[in-house]
Amino acid sequence: MKGIILAGGKGTRLYPLTLVNNKHLLPVYQKPMIYYPLSVLMLADIRDILIITTPQDLERFQTLLGDGSAYGIRLQYAVQEKPNGIAEAFLIGESFIAGDQVALILGDNIFYGPGFTPLLRRVKRQLKGATVFGHRVKDPRRFGVVEFDDQKRVLSIEEKPVEPKSDFAITGLYFYDHNVVDLARQLKKSERGELEITDLNALYLQQNRLNVELLGRGYVWMDVGTHEALNEASEFIRHIEMRQGFKVGCLEEISYYMKTMSKKDLLRHAGRFKNEYGSYLLDIAKRQHVQQYWEEHESRREWIENAK
Ligand code: TTP
Repeated sequence: MKGIILAGGKGTRLYPLTLVNNKHLLPVYQKPMIYYPLSVLMLADIRDILIITTPQDLERFQTLLGDGSAYGIRLQYAVQEKPNGIAEAFLIGESFIAGDQVALILGDNIFYGPGFTPLLRRVKRQLKGATVFGHRVKDPRRFGVVEFDDQKRVLSIEEKPVEPKSDFAITGLYFYDHNVVDLARQLKKSERGELEITDLNALYLQQNRLNVELLGRGYVWMDVGTHEALNEASEFIRHIEMRQGFKVGCLEEISYYMKTMSKKDLLRHAGRFKNEYGSYLLDIAKRQHVQQYWEEHESRREWIENAK
């Protein structure tokens, strides 16, 4: 399976912060925002990833993340000339996808919650058609809303409905089978001039091949598009990291635990940062039992998830 991170757009709601800076490079606590969605794809064990961004920002992403080999993944880059809509990602990424299945994540989405890694891997393993993720929200009228039956088959999806049929918003993480490019080609621009992801999902729904996974109440999903949300996300990550002593979205840590980074390389990364981030990486390299804990913890969760 391939992965795509969409990191273009205008970021107008974050002006003046994003007048010259790309939103997805802004700090969320002590990491660039894009680390969080990238870590989601890495946890799903997706190693071929395309980052799509604006012509003027491409080079900065390349400087930050390179070809991905530092994190045991393969990164490619592509340009979206204009914000023509989320579903355009599949047209831009057609040759990259090359008939494979693909997971798309929006570059400003942050996910955090128990058992997320095994959930991602199960969705990937069992994918038939398309799978979206639903999360309960207080005001569903602001989101794409998904209605579903007890088999988690989607009955309807509606964009910003006046009378929502459920309290579940569709998040910015989507898994699609190998038909996605063909279906994306059938899309027409919406009234606001975009190729809409909701219209793509509607095509899967028409074929009865759209599924939803629900992220329970223990999950946090944030779409970091406003000043308020940016602040809140930074504060949330800071809080979790200070309390637990574990980092969220730490690419080096994930790569090390997934055994795509050697201890020598982890130590090299640690040496680049003369700060708490560097000490954290050093600590991981020293504490073998943490790796054992992570593996046991994750495999136990995976076992529980699979048994469901
Ligand atoms: P939005 O938040 O809808 O748009 P935006 O990021 O340009 O922000 P604003 O509304 O403040 O102007 O986009 C959601 C995510 O998808 C975000 O990470 C940017 C990305 N995106 C693209 O990369 N290209 C696109 O054409 C669109 C519509 C979004």
